[in-house]
Amino acid sequence: MTNPAKLMPEGFTWGAATASYQIEGSVTADGRGPSIWDTFSATPGAVRHGDTGAIACDNYQRWESDLDLLTDLGVTGYRFSLAWPRILPEGTGEVNQAGLDHYRRLVDGLLERNITPAVTLYHWDLPQPLQDKGGWAERLVIDAFARYTEVVAEALGDRVPLWITLNEPWVSSFVGYGSGRHAPGLTDGPSALLAAHHLLCAHAAAVPILRQTSGQVGITLNLTPTRAATPDDEEAAVRMDGCHNRWFLDPLLRGEYPEDMLRWYGGSGGLPPAGGVGGGAPHKAQFDGVLDGDLEKISAPLDFLGVNYYTRTWVRTGDDPDARHPLRPSLDAHQIRPDNLPLTQMGWTVEPDGLEELMVRLKRDYPALPPIYITENGAAFDDYIDPEGGVDDEERIDFLKGHLLALHNAIEAGVDVRGYFCWSLMDNFEWGEGYARRFGLYFVDYPTQRRVAKASAGWYSQVIARNGIVL
Ligand code: NOJ
Repeated sequence: MTNPAKLMPEGFTWGAATASYQIEGSVTADGRGPSIWDTFSATPGAVRHGDTGAIACDNYQRWESDLDLLTDLGVTGYRFSLAWPRILPEGTGEVNQAGLDHYRRLVDGLLERNITPAVTLYHWDLPQPLQDKGGWAERLVIDAFARYTEVVAEALGDRVPLWITLNEPWVSSFVGYGSGRHAPGLTDGPSALLAAHHLLCAHAAAVPILRQTSGQVGITLNLTPTRAATPDDEEAAVRMDGCHNRWFLDPLLRGEYPEDMLRWYGGSGGLPPAGGVGGGAPHKAQFDGVLDGDLEKISAPLDFLGVNYYTRTWVRTGDDPDARHPLRPSLDAHQIRPDNLPLTQMGWTVEPDGLEELMVRLKRDYPALPPIYITENGAAFDDYIDPEGGVDDEERIDFLKGHLLALHNAIEAGVDVRGYFCWSLMDNFEWGEGYARRFGLYFVDYPTQRRVAKASAGWYSQVIARNGIVL
């Protein structure tokens, strides 16, 4: 009889993930400065129900009891992010010791519990004063990020084993500056491309600084295998892959931007004109932000690649002239939903085999690929506390199980995957969706801030205890 257990390699890290603005609240406590998400969420119409992160899960106050949730789960890793505006309220300049002290306590609390801290330096909460100078569309943010990294490395460098420079630069740039659905809420194609490049440069500036610490260094990308909805949509699917995946993977792992996309952005495809992504005449690319030496630095070897995987992206070349814009199709990717696939509450297709496909493809296409950590994977469903007081989230269990089995297949196929962090430890502020989407293993009852373990939390802790899935 074959062994029905699908166990992960020895030493595999089992974790849960969060991010500062999504859970902390206390946005003016202990000298924290404003971030672009404070500004954006205060803008009428920007976030569903007008929600903001002002209170969120109150984790800044409740961090210690939230660490107990991690202990209860039995995780061996916790991925969280530092709020840059707590540490350098102006973005640069004066260090706010109280902010640093908070994270030092958090890191020490994890180490005392034998939980590996995986620290993200930038998970989207840029200090507002830097945005006032143009934000990621300006090169000056690169130096500011380097300075921030130095401060963090000095304070925590001896005790953080895993560093993640940036979370999902595709979202920070293309969604923040292209579609405007995220902070800073701009809709300017050329700025989106500049922001993407400057984010990669900031990563590149941080790597040698973090190399001076005892930790390993990586970056987290959100990757999504693309699929053409019909045979006529093949070209659009390749382009979507270029924009969403290769535009970041290629500079990091090959030291160059993908040729086809450079042609697209620079040629007849053109970029959306400044101020909007509406139709109109093709527009000459303004992607002139790459300086000599940038790509060499961006492609410095990494210790690991963080991958966030949620869904495949189905692509259709629409009749709408907007759909022909090079940035546009990538922005509305999730709106194309084949009828036969289940969806999460985000409207994303549930496709666990896409994770295996992605892992195998990374290994095949990128000889320089370092070991991988899945830094996020999870799903939003319509959770509620039932009359017995529990949260019966069977769909989430199925989702996680399917993805872990797919990951196991990829490992068996030879992909070097070192760990898995479930998104998320607890329900939290889901950016433009506010509190209306729940991704947590723990349900958060916002009015009382009570945490309730969902059925998936119990299930996940058993998986962790066994180091895998026993079928
Ligand atoms: C990726 C982001 O990193 C995280 O902040 C977000 O909540 C999840 N995806 C779910 O959308």
